[in-house]
Amino acid sequence: MPAYQEELEKIANQFEVDLKSATTFDDLNNIEIKYLGRQGFINNFLKIYPPKGNPELGKDVNQLKQRVSAHLEERRNKLSYHSPKIDLTLPLKDDLTGSTHLISRTIEEIEDIFAKIGFARRRYPEIDTDWYYAEGLNIPKGHPARDDQETFYLTNDFVLTAHTSNGQLHEMENQKPPIRMINIGKTYRRQADTSHNPMFHQFEGLVVDIDISIANLISITNYFAENYFGVGRKTRLRPHHFQFTEPSFEIDISCDLCSGTGVIDSVPCKMCKSGWLELGGAGMVHRNVLKNGDLDPDIYSGFAFGWGVERVLLMRSGLKIADLRNLFTDDIRFLGQFK
Ligand code: DAH
Repeated sequence: MPAYQEELEKIANQFEVDLKSATTFDDLNNIEIKYLGRQGFINNFLKIYPPKGNPELGKDVNQLKQRVSAHLEERRNKLSYHSPKIDLTLPLKDDLTGSTHLISRTIEEIEDIFAKIGFARRRYPEIDTDWYYAEGLNIPKGHPARDDQETFYLTNDFVLTAHTSNGQLHEMENQKPPIRMINIGKTYRRQADTSHNPMFHQFEGLVVDIDISIANLISITNYFAENYFGVGRKTRLRPHHFQFTEPSFEIDISCDLCSGTGVIDSVPCKMCKSGWLELGGAGMVHRNVLKNGDLDPDIYSGFAFGWGVERVLLMRSGLKIADLRNLFTDDIRFLGQFK
């Protein structure tokens, strides 16, 4: 056997050994470089045994090259078949994990707080007829109260709801008393500035039963204040006017920063100035609304309230969000702060 053949055989045997111990694509790539690379075994061999004038040698070398390539190819195919190139079981890098949006978390929390005392979560239309949205709530066409909200009218009779109070009549139609609902939904108003987004969320409570009084409204309000804002928070009612409630109130919650005193170190509290922060509207359901919901106001009474989701979220967290509209963007740099 010519000397060069012995040498070639050594290379071939060494290749088999290397191939056997290869387990990854990287291993196979390294073997390829080791044997077929410019400085690899085969090229080095050709420097010592030039093929010129020796066609047999040229043929043997080509055969070996082809064998090496074919075996590498075969092993690569097996590897890609048996092991995925991406390990789907690896945990994601922390900064790539998603989380529930701040507003969705608040909605879930509000839902849970009211669920504990038997309120059923409802979702009523965001596009609704004038009847549910206004007329049935004792706000006749042409009434000045229509101007309170900057409503988007889609047609003469359909609106993008500017409050969740439209859920009240739907609920009375769907559920006979006792009624205890919390309707959480999107609301729309023609307002856009640093503290208003044209789309925001409200939660609307409605309780209708026999002998429901303002005392029940007060206790539910205090329950929510303590559970959402924290132990020791108090509420108060201030007289107000809404068409669909009589009497009507605005509900305030005691300020956390100054413990409801309105002063810190003899200076007016910069958060509230008065010791109280405004939560939103509430009242005893108007007789006309009960009638419109097909309930006899001489038998049934109820209370209702409608508060802003983003408002309670900002009130509790003390977050100073420079622009409320940021909450509605998809900017991960902003949202990622609230994981
Ligand atoms: N719908 C009113 C608004 O968006 C808030 C409201 C006030 C809801 C009194 C109520 C209520 O249920 O009783 O301004």
